[in-house]
Amino acid sequence: MEFKKIKIGFAESTLTEEEIKTLQLLTENSNYQLCSISQIQVDDYALERKDSQWSLRLVRPESEKDSVALSLNFDLSLDYKREIKKKEDLLYKSLGQPKSSLRVLDTTCGLAIDSVHFSKLGMEVVSLERNPVLFFLLTQAQSASQQEVIRKIKIINSEASRYLNSITSVGVENAGEVFDAVYFDPMYPEKKKKSAKPRKEMLLFRDFVGEDLDADQVFEQITTTEVPRIIVKRPIEASALPCPSPAYLKPIIYQGKMVRYDVYKRK
Ligand SMILES: C[S@@+](CC[C@H](N)C(=O)[O-])C[C@H]1O[C@@H](n2cnc3c(N)ncnc32)[C@H](O)[C@@H]1O
Repeated sequence: MEFKKIKIGFAESTLTEEEIKTLQLLTENSNYQLCSISQIQVDDYALERKDSQWSLRLVRPESEKDSVALSLNFDLSLDYKREIKKKEDLLYKSLGQPKSSLRVLDTTCGLAIDSVHFSKLGMEVVSLERNPVLFFLLTQAQSASQQEVIRKIKIINSEASRYLNSITSVGVENAGEVFDAVYFDPMYPEKKKKSAKPRKEMLLFRDFVGEDLDADQVFEQITTTEVPRIIVKRPIEASALPCPSPAYLKPIIYQGKMVRYDVYKRK
């Protein structure tokens, strides 16, 4: 999977040597090009840190006053503070309302809003993110968090297909890992007819990580595992992802106002 070629500038003075090394290692074989903050131009990104808060800012012309930045703060951002009422909770229903903790593999971590939700529901969560810069931001924000429910999520920088291959192989890292449910939330295709305006940070996020054009293939691979339950998040107006595996029943649908969860149970 190719990432868009993107230039990211950072101020060396605000990063530790270790952080710079980590970033360099993570982005080594990607389409991200790291450089000094003084070398970036309009439409490049600036990776910045203020105290323990990291953000990714899209550089805009000076005439545009509102600059947009994506910041991840698990303890302050409202996205992670949603109150969970188990009885009405669609993700909890999608998991089959378990009485005890399940092992959930979130194959599309993104901003980890859903991974945090699963963790708050008492699940043990392993979350995969293939975008190396987003992974860097996620793990930095995670170590800055004061909450055990956030810190206990295992976030891994991996392509879902690579990870899924490894758990079904022998003698490699992660071999034999077993999950009760796999969660899949690929980036939605751009809507032709726009409805409610997404938040600017969400647009920046979408622009930065790009579309997940391989969603059908990844879903197909998930269905070849023996996981008892697959949950796919979809926009309500979108059709279900094609499920080529006869091992799974037709999806049960849990529908909310904006999204729905298609739950495929193994026969
Ligand atoms: C729509 S976002 C997920 C949002 C997430 N559910 C949340 O609550 O924040 C999709 C994310 O999954 C990542 N992603 C998509 N396909 C992936 C794959 N095959 N392997 C690993 N990460 C993937 C993308 O880079 C993007 O960050």
